[in-house]
Amino acid sequence: MSPTSMSPIAGPKPSIILDCDPGHDDAIAIVVAARHTNLLGITTVAGNAPLSLTTRNALIMTDLLGLDTPVHSGAERPLVAPPRHAGYVHGASGLDGADLPDPSRPADSDHAIDFIIDTCRSTEGVWLVPIGPMTNIALALRAAPDLAHRIAGISLMGGGTFGNRTAAAEFNLWADPEAAAMVFEYGGPLIMSGLDVTHQFQATPPRIDAVRAVPGRLAELLADLLTFFSHTYTTRHDDMGGAAVHDPIAVMALTHPDLFTRVARHVVIETRGEHTRGMTLIDQRALIERHPPNCDVLTHVDDDAAFAVITEAIAAFSR
Ligand code: BDR
Ligand code: CA
Repeated sequence: MSPTSMSPIAGPKPSIILDCDPGHDDAIAIVVAARHTNLLGITTVAGNAPLSLTTRNALIMTDLLGLDTPVHSGAERPLVAPPRHAGYVHGASGLDGADLPDPSRPADSDHAIDFIIDTCRSTEGVWLVPIGPMTNIALALRAAPDLAHRIAGISLMGGGTFGNRTAAAEFNLWADPEAAAMVFEYGGPLIMSGLDVTHQFQATPPRIDAVRAVPGRLAELLADLLTFFSHTYTTRHDDMGGAAVHDPIAVMALTHPDLFTRVARHVVIETRGEHTRGMTLIDQRALIERHPPNCDVLTHVDDDAAFAVITEAIAAFSR
């Protein structure tokens, strides 16, 4: 598979299902997806917080954006691993740091996997965009193997040549390595936005100020969320000027492909290593023995231009 064969086609908005665990950066990804994609649905998974909270947070975001996009909750726990969350980054609610309203409506169902399968069978060319643990996507692919050749592809946030939850593993893959392995082996177009690219994309104080300068409550709440998120990053890292805004990158990889450089690689998920469980093993060998690529790995982002996409999307929903 060549890199160009996997690049999204410029033109009409891509139709996507956003599979998420909000999560501060997931919340920003919802804004960008609402602005720049045909957002068919939001599915939620346990990850940054327990499922009841990630679902609640997704519903709050749809309210704040005035969306009637369906929200379906999915897997309450990983396939094999015990459920473990990320309150140390996102707070106990998954979206600490802002005075958020209660959601106005319940989730449309707790059958996210059925929603994914039915939507991908009834709609041509859907992109799945998992930005949390990949449990829902793996369960959908296992229950409906035909999805692998029905969908346009999968654009995911996860992995990297270094980890954050462990020295080797990024959180989304560490949380459910068996699910991630199924996704990376599914056989269709795959775009990986890992830590190498997402750590280039930081919510620095001037960028948060730019969000806060957008008039209205949405921008104020999102600036508060980014401030909290950035505080956890700058106090936990030696070298970051703000939170890495990971998740919108997986959306913008489809909607704004020109903002990124990418390289075609073979990537597998380590599921058994004593120290490396959840690691993306990226074959970077410049050797003829290297494995054929199964994935486009994003390597660089035009970070100023990408953050401008976020600010503009927030402004668009603030009018
Ligand atoms: C990923 O983990 C979560 O904390 C973020 O929402 C992002 O999806 C980054 O490792
Ligand atoms: Ca996430």
